[in-house]
Formats: sequence, structure tokens, C-alpha cells
Amino acid sequence: MNLIERPRRLRRTPTIRALVRETRLSPEDFVYPLFVCEGEGVRREITSMPGVFNLSIDELIKEVEVARGVGIRSVILFGVPDEKDAVGTQAYAEDGITQRAIRAVKREVKDVLVIADNCLCEYTEHGHCGVIEAGEVLNDPTLELLARTAVTQAEAGADIIAPSNMMDGFVVAIREALDESGFEQVPIMSYAVKYASGFYGPFREAAQSAPQFGDRRGYQMDPANSREAIREAELDYQQGADMLMVKPALPYLDIIRAVRERFDLPIAAYQVSGEYAMIKAAGRLGWIEEERVALEALTSIKRAGADIILTYFARELANRLP
Ligand code: PBG
Repeated sequence: MNLIERPRRLRRTPTIRALVRETRLSPEDFVYPLFVCEGEGVRREITSMPGVFNLSIDELIKEVEVARGVGIRSVILFGVPDEKDAVGTQAYAEDGITQRAIRAVKREVKDVLVIADNCLCEYTEHGHCGVIEAGEVLNDPTLELLARTAVTQAEAGADIIAPSNMMDGFVVAIREALDESGFEQVPIMSYAVKYASGFYGPFREAAQSAPQFGDRRGYQMDPANSREAIREAELDYQQGADMLMVKPALPYLDIIRAVRERFDLPIAAYQVSGEYAMIKAAGRLGWIEEERVALEALTSIKRAGADIILTYFARELANRLP
């Protein structure tokens, strides 16, 4: 036997493996999701997401400073308001919890990019992402409210608006409203391809946003579809999205790759709450090596084509990257 090709030559030592490594994670790839609630000194752990908290604004500032200290430059904020109503008033209130949190982070922490999630589900009593009539989520009336939300978020100082609601036409509605208010420089990171996923379960505990009737299958995508993902991404691209997101991440690596190949915009992927919870839970049971598995999952998301990864592991793993 005379073997010429021996791939193992490049695997023999850590140094040679580092030399030929194709995909590298950096803290700057990460966006750190944070949940902000009313009160002071509140740091309430989410049962199904160990290490993730509902934070009052003062605690939020501390958390962002720690994250910034380990090299995380971007956060995405989710508001958990005390008051919810049928039309999600607190989503677009000038002094809403999210708007106050954005102002505080921008004022207190230097060099951190604040992304505002743009949706109504955390603010509506029924837990749906839009206005309801006769059991249906209405599309166009919801767009108006999302546009108002985006403007108040930009006024508060949000650097990027990230609409996650999956109404048709949300990118152009938000773009026009931002431009009319003088925020033509504020980019939109669109949750372009968002599946109706069971992996959002723990988030709904964190944000207290579980739908009170029905589910989100009437506006979020069917997990079985991939051509439809391209269509959704194309529509958001045409409407002026600056970045495209795929969500969840690990069960949809094929979709991340397909969107990467079709579009030259930056591609983001969201490693969602259920992906985090599974790794944490199995790690706690001693059934997997938590840190190793987390890094492997994050690496695979980047390898599939994501430029930006939203992950609850951001702060914890920022200085553990291979
Ligand atoms: C709001 C929103 C959700 C997530 C991000 N933005 C919940 C949902 O659509 O039910 C989920 C994120 C996660 O699970 O980590 N619409």
C-alpha cells in the first residue's frame, strides 16, 4: 500500500490543527440577548434557562458592562413590561420598559451596539405578535404599531431595529417610518426567516409571551419548508432589510447555508432559548460536556454561513473560544 493522501498529517497536534482551522468564533460575532423588567435590583433567573435572567435596568447595565468587558459588543433587548393590553401599548410607549432600557444602556456603557427586538407579543395580554380580531392576527393594522415601536426605539437610541413579528411587509413599513422620522441611518436586521418552532418554549417563560390561545403557525413559517425561506428572505431584501436572520439556528443549518448562498447581506442566526436549554440541561445531568457541545454548536452555525450569532452563551463563552 502506498498512500499519498494522508489527511491525518494536518491533525496531529493542536498547533497544526489551529493553523488549518477554517472557522473561528470571535466574541465580535456574538449578539447577547437580554430581558429587561421593571423594578430595581431584580435579577430573576429563568427556570428553563440557567444563567439567563430577567433584569431590572440597574442590573441590566451591570450585565452589559461585564459582557463588554469580555469583548461582547452587541446586545439585543427584550422588554418584559408589567402591563399588557390588547394592542401592546407598552411596546411603543415613549417611556416603555424597552425604551428606558435602551436609553440607560446607551448612556451608561461605551461602545456597545444596542439592538431593539421589534414585536408585540411581550406586550399583548393575548401573547400574539399583533392585533387580534375574531381570533385572527390582523396584518396591516399591526404594521402601524410595529412602525411606531421602531420609531420610539430609534428615538431612545437603538442602533439597530430587529423586527421579529413575521407580519407581511414589516420591513418596508418600519423603513418608511424610520426614514420619515429622520432615522434613515438606522439599519434593520430582519428576522426574515423565522419558523413556528417548539424551540422558543423557554423564551416564552422569560418574556411571559406565550400565546393565550392558538399558536403562531398562521404567521411564522412551517418547519418543513425551505424554498419558502428564500422567498421570505427575498421579500425582506427587496423591502430594504440591511441584514437577514434565520431562526432557530441548529435545526436549520441548511436554511442558513441556502440564504448565505443567495444573498450578499450579512446573515445572522439565532441560537434560540430551546437550543440553549437543551445544552444546559444535558450538561447539568452530566450527559454531555456542556461547554464543548455549546462551542461545537456555535461553530457549526458559523460554518453553515452565519456572520452574526445571537446566543445566550455569549458572555459565558466569550473568553472560552478555541
Ligand atoms: C418575539 C420573539 C420570540 C423570540 C425572539 N423574538 C418568541 C416567539 O416568536 O415566540 C424567540 C427567541 C428564543 O426562543 O430565544 N416574537
